[in-house]
Amino acid sequence: MSGSGSLSDQSGLESARESTWVFGYGSLIYKVDFPFLEREEAAIGGWQRRFWQGSHDHRGTPQAPGRVVTLIPAAGAVCKGVAYRIDHDVFEHLDHREKNGYERHAVSIALTASQRQVGGILYVARADNHAYLGPAPMAELAAHIAGSSGPSGSNRDYVLALATALRELGDLDPHVLELESLLLQSTGTSPKER
Ligand code: SIN
Repeated sequence: MSGSGSLSDQSGLESARESTWVFGYGSLIYKVDFPFLEREEAAIGGWQRRFWQGSHDHRGTPQAPGRVVTLIPAAGAVCKGVAYRIDHDVFEHLDHREKNGYERHAVSIALTASQRQVGGILYVARADNHAYLGPAPMAELAAHIAGSSGPSGSNRDYVLALATALRELGDLDPHVLELESLLLQSTGTSPKER
C-alpha cells in the first residue's frame, strides 16, 4: 500500500468539496452513530494503535479517566479500519464526539474493496493534549481499563468491542488483542466463549 509515514499533505476533500473520507481505527469502527455516504474497509500506513489517550467523557470521567486508543507514528506499520465518506455537516457531530484531545489530521487512505487511494482525515490524540496519559506496562493498562467507566459505558467493553471488530477486519493488532486477553483472564473468560 502507499501512504507511508505519518501525515499526508492532502486536503482530505473530495473533488466536489462537499464530502470527506474519515478513517476510523477505534470506536469509529464499531459505533456508527452518524450518517455516511459510503463505507469501506480501509487501511493507512505508518501508524499503530495505542491505549495511551485518557477518556474523560466516554469511558471515564475527568476525576477518573479511562483509556482509549490513539495512533502513534510507526514506520512500516499498517493500521486497518473503516473509512466513511461523510457530508461536511457530519463534522459537527464527530468533532464533538472526539473533542477530548483529538484533532483532525489529513491522511492518505487505501480503500480495500474498491482499491482506491483517497485523501481523508482521521482523529488523532497527540502527546501534548490535556487528556493524554501515555504508555504504561500492559498489566497496568488492563487493570486501569478494568476499573474505568463513563457515560458511554465500561472501558472494558470498549476494548472488547474493538478487538471483535478488528478480528472481523483481519487486523490482529497485538496491542489490542493482548489487552483483550488480559481483561478476559481477569474474569476467567476466553475469547471463544464471548
Ligand atoms: C477512532 O475511532 O478513529 C478515534 C478514536 C475513538 O474514538 O475511539
